[in-house]
Amino acid sequence: MCGIVGYIGNQKAVPILMSGLNQLEYRGYDSAGVALFDDGHLDVVKCKGRLRFLEEKLAAKEYNGNIGIGHTRWATHGEPNDVNSHPHLSNTGKIAVVHNGIIENYLQLKEFLMSQGFAFVSDTDTEIIAHLIEYHYAIIGDFVRAVMEACGELDGSYALGVLCDDDKETFVAVRKGSPLIVGLGDGENFIASDIPAILKYTRDIYILEDKEVAILRKDHVAIYDLYGMEVKKDVFHVDWDVEAAEKSGYEHFMMKEMCEEPRVIRDTVGSRIQKGRIDLKGISLTDDYLNGIEKIYIVACGTAYHAGMIGKYLIEKLARIPVETDIASEFRYRDPILSERNLVIIISQSGETIDTLYALREAKEKKAKVLSIVNVVGSSIARESDGVLYTMAGPEIAVASSKAYNAQLSALTLIALDFAAKRKQIPQEEVTRLTSELLKVPDMVEEILKDKENIQRFAAMHYNANSIFYIGRGMDYALSMEGSLKLKEISYIHSESYAGGELKHGTIALIEEGTLVVCCMTQDSLFPKMISNIKEVKARKASIMAITQEKNAAEAEKIADIVITIPNIDPVLAPIAAVTPMQLFAYYMAVLKGCDVDKPRNLAKSVTVE
Ligand code: AGP
Repeated sequence: MCGIVGYIGNQKAVPILMSGLNQLEYRGYDSAGVALFDDGHLDVVKCKGRLRFLEEKLAAKEYNGNIGIGHTRWATHGEPNDVNSHPHLSNTGKIAVVHNGIIENYLQLKEFLMSQGFAFVSDTDTEIIAHLIEYHYAIIGDFVRAVMEACGELDGSYALGVLCDDDKETFVAVRKGSPLIVGLGDGENFIASDIPAILKYTRDIYILEDKEVAILRKDHVAIYDLYGMEVKKDVFHVDWDVEAAEKSGYEHFMMKEMCEEPRVIRDTVGSRIQKGRIDLKGISLTDDYLNGIEKIYIVACGTAYHAGMIGKYLIEKLARIPVETDIASEFRYRDPILSERNLVIIISQSGETIDTLYALREAKEKKAKVLSIVNVVGSSIARESDGVLYTMAGPEIAVASSKAYNAQLSALTLIALDFAAKRKQIPQEEVTRLTSELLKVPDMVEEILKDKENIQRFAAMHYNANSIFYIGRGMDYALSMEGSLKLKEISYIHSESYAGGELKHGTIALIEEGTLVVCCMTQDSLFPKMISNIKEVKARKASIMAITQEKNAAEAEKIADIVITIPNIDPVLAPIAAVTPMQLFAYYMAVLKGCDVDKPRNLAKSVTVE
C-alpha cells in the first residue's frame, strides 16, 4: 500500500506534495519521490528512506513548478532503493508515473515492451506502466487516450498519477482496486490515495470508482471511463478531522486493517495464480529438492507462529511432507538437528523480530534452506533468506496483527498447494479446484465483515468476563490459539486455547456457569467431535460462541448461544476466513472495555529486542 498525492494550481507544487506525503507516510515509508514541471521541463526527485531524506534532496534547489505528483512507497516488487522508488519515467523521459497497487501481468507486459525496445532500470511492476503509456502515446499521439489504452491492458490493482512532458497544463489519475480521490479547489485541484493528504486544502472531493480516469487542469476536472465516456460524479464533502481521516474514518487502525483483508488476500494470492496453476516467483525450490526434503520446520513468534501451525496442517495434508513448528525463541536455543535436507520456513510480518531472525541464522548455520514469508520488503529476515514469499498486506499499523495473519495463511496455502503439485501428491485438477476456491475467499471475508454488528452485540454481553476459553480441533485448534491471543493482547481478558479433545484431560475443571467458550468448528470431519465437546461444556452451564460454515449452522444453533457463520468453503481454506470473526470479537471486547486497541499496554509492533 503506497501513498499518492498530485497538485495542479497556482501555488508551488513541492510544499503541497510534501505536506500530503507526510500525511500519508503511514501508508508506506521505505522510499519517496516527486515529479513536477519546473522551468519548462519534467523533474524527478526521489530516494530510498523516510520522507525527510526526500525533503533534504528537494531543499537543494528552488522548485517553482505548480503541477506535480508525489509518492511514498511500501515496496511490493523490488527492494526499497533509489532506483525502485517512484515516480518512474518512460524511456524518453516524457511520461512520469506514481502507482499504488499490484500489476499481476507485469512480467508478460515487460517481455512485450522489451521486445519493442524498451529498456528497464528498476525491479518494480510500476515501471512497465510508464513504458506502456509511452508505447501507446507514440502510436495515438494523445496523452489521455494513451493512458486509457495502457490501463485497459493492466491486470491487478492500480491507483495512478501520470504526467506527460508534452502537456504541462494537465495531469491524469486512474483508479482500479486501489483507492484514489480527487480534491476540488478554487483554481487548483488535487489527487490523493487518502483524504488526510489534501484535507487542509479542500473538503470537497470526488471519490473515484474502479476504471475511472480523472483529467485535472487548474480550473477544471473531468472524469471518464476507460472507453472515454464522460462520467458525472457527485461531490462528497468531508467533515472528518485529520486524525480520523488518517484512519479513513475508522475509529481504529485495527478495524481499518481488518476491513482491508479482502484486498490483502486478493493481492497476496492473485498475482501468484495463473489459470489454476501456482507461480511462486522468488522461491527457487526445484521439484527434485522438494522430493528430497526430509522435514520442514516452520519457525516464528506470536501470531506468525499461529499461522505456522496452520501451515503445518496444510503442508502435511496436501504435500505429505513432515512438518514441525517451533516458537523462534525456543528453536534458536534447542540446538535443532538440521541438514541441507531440511527446509525452514520463517514467518514474520515485520521481518525484524529478533528471536525469529536469530532462528533463521541458526537454521542457515546448520545448512538448512530458508524460505521466509514476510510483509516488509527488504527487511532483515527477507534479506537473509534463500527465498522470500511476500505477503501483500501493506503497512500494518495496529500492534495486534490482523490482515497480515490472513495474508500469512494465504501464502502458506499457496506454498502447500505448490509443493503438493510439484510432488504430485494431488492432481492438477485438485490444485485448480482449490486455487479457484482460494480466489473466492476475499469475497467470503467481505461477507463476514458485513456481520460485524452481530459480533459486536455478543461482545457487549461478555466484555466483563474474567476468562474466556477457545477450543478447536485440527486446524481449528491452531486457529483458536490466534483467537485467544487477539483477545488477550487488546482486551487484557485472560484467555486460553485448548484442543477440543484435551478438555476432558483436565481443563474442563475450569468451566463453570457462564464461562464463555469460543468453539472453532470449520473442519467438516471434526464437526461431530466438536459438537460433543460443546455438549460437555454446556453440561457445566458454559456459554457457547460457535464459528462454523453455513452448512453446519443449523446443527450448531441447537446448542450454541451464538453462531457466527462463514460461507461454505473447502475446509483446507476455511481458516483464512474463519479468523476474521475472532479478530472482530476481540476488537469489540477491547473497545467495550475502553482499551487502547491500536497500542495495547506493554506491547510493541515489532519486537526487535530479546
Ligand atoms: C501480533 O498480534 C502480536 N503483536 C505479536 O505476537 C507478533 O505476531 C509477533 O511479535 C511476531 O511479529 P512478526 O510477525 O513481525 O515477526
